[in-house]
Amino acid sequence: MELASDPGLDARFAESAHQILADLVRRGAALGWVEPPARRDVAELLGTVVSAVQAGDGSLRAAYVDRRLVGLGYWLRYARPTHRPHADLEKVAVDAAVHGRGVGRALTAALIADARRAGIEVLTLDARGDNSNALHLYRSLGFTEYGRLPDFVAVGERRYDKVFYMLDFRRQG
Ligand SMILES: CC(C)(COP(=O)(O)OP(=O)(O)OC[C@H]1O[C@@H](n2cnc3c(N)ncnc32)[C@H](O)[C@@H]1OP(=O)(O)O)[C@@H](O)C(=O)NCCC(=O)NCCS
Repeated sequence: MELASDPGLDARFAESAHQILADLVRRGAALGWVEPPARRDVAELLGTVVSAVQAGDGSLRAAYVDRRLVGLGYWLRYARPTHRPHADLEKVAVDAAVHGRGVGRALTAALIADARRAGIEVLTLDARGDNSNALHLYRSLGFTEYGRLPDFVAVGERRYDKVFYMLDFRRQG
């Protein structure tokens, strides 16, 4: 597996990222979408992320196996002026075909290292309460829970907890 820190935003990258994200959402993944995102939505999102990376306000990591995109993740610095020292890990997504092979762990660890290097003070994330694989992964990399909104995430008639995690670099050695 290779990890790229700035894959750029060529059309092929956006297309592959869209395939991974839309397929995961189709399978019920908790990525913030109820319906699979449109190609244009993913391209727009990636455009926003790449602009933030270029401005020093984010990090985007992509994982490749045999030159095929198999996963991506990113964090963005908070826009709110009083939250500027901090960033939010917004999406980590791995192609279902390679789940359980360490890609998600490698991506998340690389994003954490980027945040530390960028001088981020607190890296936050939120996840759906039933996403136990993801929550286990984040805890194993040092994140701790700091809050929970019960039955907040709405998927049709179903409701799930929204769980908030943080990694405070100021409290680490
Ligand atoms: C969560 C996700 C990114 C993990 O990626 P992955 O490449 O499968 O994860 P890894 O192989 O690096 O494994 C990391 C941990 O996840 C868990 N895990 C991953 N796949 C698993 C599987 N098929 N069965 C059981 N546990 C699994 C394990 O706890 C593992 O910990 P370990 O290394 O101690 O065994 C991936 O499952 C995914 O894309 N899910 C859908 C999108 C999503 O929910 N993203 C997170 C939003 S907050």
